Order: sequence, then structure tokens, then C-alpha cells
Amino acid sequence: MQIHTSIDSLRAARRAAGKVAFVPTMGNLHDGHIDLVRQAAEKADSVIASIFVNRLQFGPSEDFNSYPRTLAADGERLEAAGVAHVFAPDEKVMYPEPQHYHIDPAPAQIGILEGEFRPGHFRGVATVVLKLLNIVQPDIALFGKKDYQQLMVLRNMVRQLAIPVEVLPGETVRADDGLALSSRNGYLSPEERAEAPRLYRQLVRVCEAVRRGDHDFLKLETESVAELAAHGWKPDYIAVRRRADLQPPMHADDPLVVLAAAKLGRTRLIDNLEI
Ligand code: PAF
Repeated sequence: MQIHTSIDSLRAARRAAGKVAFVPTMGNLHDGHIDLVRQAAEKADSVIASIFVNRLQFGPSEDFNSYPRTLAADGERLEAAGVAHVFAPDEKVMYPEPQHYHIDPAPAQIGILEGEFRPGHFRGVATVVLKLLNIVQPDIALFGKKDYQQLMVLRNMVRQLAIPVEVLPGETVRADDGLALSSRNGYLSPEERAEAPRLYRQLVRVCEAVRRGDHDFLKLETESVAELAAHGWKPDYIAVRRRADLQPPMHADDPLVVLAAAKLGRTRLIDNLEI
């Protein structure tokens, strides 16, 4: 496996890599990322992963500075998983000058859910992903469903801008107790880690109730918010939405997903479950 810190070096390697599947990451890798790499390896001749903590997608009060940077361990995991090339630029390579050109996702998609609580987040994500796609020029790019809204925004960006890449989703990988794997789980104290699966259990509760025919979404959402708050959480939202555009359900046969974000102590966790 080769680690590239410059765009020229990565591009030269890419030209010789055949059909390429790309897994963009911010590092601090867990089994969810490795699952994406495995899926990527089945679809292409070579897997390229990137590791870059993207300042543009963090708000001023968010954890950009403290976000865990674990390049050596990440490199070992990626090599063991069969990655051919890692693109690990530093900020001077990705943003040698202030980034004045941005991708603005559709307001209807970023004014809701994560976008409402993290203004500017998806603008930063879409901008860096377009830049990474332009650098790597992969045939396929993989993104986890754990960041459901991110996946939707990026799919729409690729379609609307006719970017020549196929976007593939990866299933959320969970710990045995249901907690979705996330780099931010590392911030949890042992007590918080024991409490954290309650978020997933509430998603399961809502999901099962809807499947049984309970379509009083507001009641289900309010009950889950109250249950989390009663156990010390600060919920941002629990919302049953249409899978296609994450807007409130309109028709009985809309495929649905329930999404949640809540703070436990200082850690903000997100998760979702397709219904
Ligand atoms: O999902 C992530 O880790 C990031 O948002 C991504 C897609 C690598 C862009 O920085």
C-alpha cells in the first residue's frame, strides 16, 4: 500500500490503478469504514481511501481541533483490508489558498435535520467531496448510511452535476449492543458508553411501532425525545421521514427512515434506521 500526500503522486498512481473504488474518510477508522473498504474491493480493481479531517465541515464550536487523528493505526487497518493507495494530504495540499468556491446543496435538503443543527456542514462536506472526486477520479465512491443525509446530499450532487462516478451506500455497522460505530464514540466515558445504545433502542421502538401500523409519527417522536431526555440526553431531533428526500411522509406507501441526533454529555451522536 502506498500513502500519497500530494495530488500529483495520487493521480499518477490512480492512472495505473484500473477500475477504482474510493472510500473517503476523516480517519480514526472503525469497522464501519473497513466494511466500506471490503465492499469497495469487490467492485473494482483497486481501492483508494482518503484520510483528511476537513475543516470546512466543522462549525466554529465543533470538534475540529480535537477530532482524533490516528494516521499510523489507520494506515495499518487500510493495508490489512487490501487498500492499494491512501490519499492523506495535509491542509496546505487540500486548501493551499482560502477555498472561495463552494458547493451549496439545495436549501430544502440542508435546512432540515443535521443541516438545521449544523449550519454550513453539508456545504463543507459537498465541497470537499467534489474536490476529492476531482483529485481521485474514481469509478465508484462509497459512503456509509449512518450519515444518511450526507449520502442523500452527495447522491444529489453527483446526479445534478453529472459527476462521472457511481455512488454506493454502505450499511451501518453496530456494536453488539446496537450502538452505531462512529469515530465520536471514543469521546464517551464508560458510563456514557453504557447509556449510548438507548438511542438505537428508541429508533427500533419507533420503527417497530410504524411497521405495526402506528402512523402517529409526532406522538412516537415526542415519546422518544422524552425517554432520552429522562435519561440525561439532550435530543436535537427524532424524525420519521421519507427515505427519498428526508421530508415528512405524505403518502401511506412512502418508504421511510427514522433519524435521530442527540447529545450525551459533550458527545453528539447520530443514527438512523430504515423502516
Ligand atoms: O463521512 C465522512 O467521514 C466525511 O463527511 C467525508 C465524506 C469523508 C467528507 O469529509
